[in-house]
Amino acid sequence: TPTEYKPILDFIVTVARKAGALILEGSAAIQTVSSQETGVNEKKNSVDLVTEYDVRVEELLLKELKNGYPNFKFIGEESYSAGKREPLTDDPTFCVDPIDGTTNFVHGIPFVCVSIGVIYERRPIIGVIYNPFLDHLYTAAKSHGAYLTRNNGTPQRLPLASPPKPLSSLHGAVIGVEWGSERSSESMAGKSSSFVKLAGDPERGVPGGKMAHSLRSFGSGALNCAMVAQGALDMYWEIGCWPWDVSAGIIIVQEAGGIITGSHKVLSDTINAEQFGDVTEDILFGRKYLLIRGIADTPTES
Ligand code: IPD
Repeated sequence: TPTEYKPILDFIVTVARKAGALILEGSAAIQTVSSQETGVNEKKNSVDLVTEYDVRVEELLLKELKNGYPNFKFIGEESYSAGKREPLTDDPTFCVDPIDGTTNFVHGIPFVCVSIGVIYERRPIIGVIYNPFLDHLYTAAKSHGAYLTRNNGTPQRLPLASPPKPLSSLHGAVIGVEWGSERSSESMAGKSSSFVKLAGDPERGVPGGKMAHSLRSFGSGALNCAMVAQGALDMYWEIGCWPWDVSAGIIIVQEAGGIITGSHKVLSDTINAEQFGDVTEDILFGRKYLLIRGIADTPTES
């Protein structure tokens, strides 16, 4: 069963590193050809990018993962876009984003990763996020903690801060947000007003006013989750991210002691008073607001 997590996790890490090598090869290729020949295509609109390498990396993931675990279902960003849409069931399911941060990949910004999650009984249980540019590997399995391995060194338990710093208000927080690829005026208005609520100045910037320190837009949902797990971001908020962006990230954040919720009520002033729920299929596949919040409490030891 997928609860025997260790061999599965080790296997996924090997596959993620192979995918990472192909991403690096792709980046070198894409940065050296003219803009007409980059193989960059648009999906739903001019900012929703896909490259030849998104497709090639997903093909590699599908082949390797199915080879290791033929009975697991497979949900992938590019397969989904091509119309191959496996319904989510209780069965173990790989949920992958071959290149999360495609816009960064196209523009040569080294904040790009492969994200591989395993969902079982409709909940993420294993997550691997690998940024090959920085050689940062994030891993987690349910009830076994979350880890960061840098430059193939010794894995470090997440969050990195010890003791972890609980987030009691937005005061002083750094918050990850994303513009996403949905750019209708209605969607843009919703996002902008949320950004203002998150980083705005409720007390007109007077000395002692309690504001978030800033917002960051790193361009990869998976790496935003990783940054929360690490303790670098205090929170990540996005509307409409896809399951492959966050399946691995959710379990990595949860195992680092963080909280996931689909509630947007959190944008009220009293963040402390909010009741945080668990992530549900509706949030994952209904593409609702997703809030991933940093350390709630000291993570439990496994
Ligand atoms: C996108 C990134 C981005 C987020 C979008 C995603 P992609 O994934 O995670 O940060 O804002 O919602 O779709 O297209 O780079 O795989």
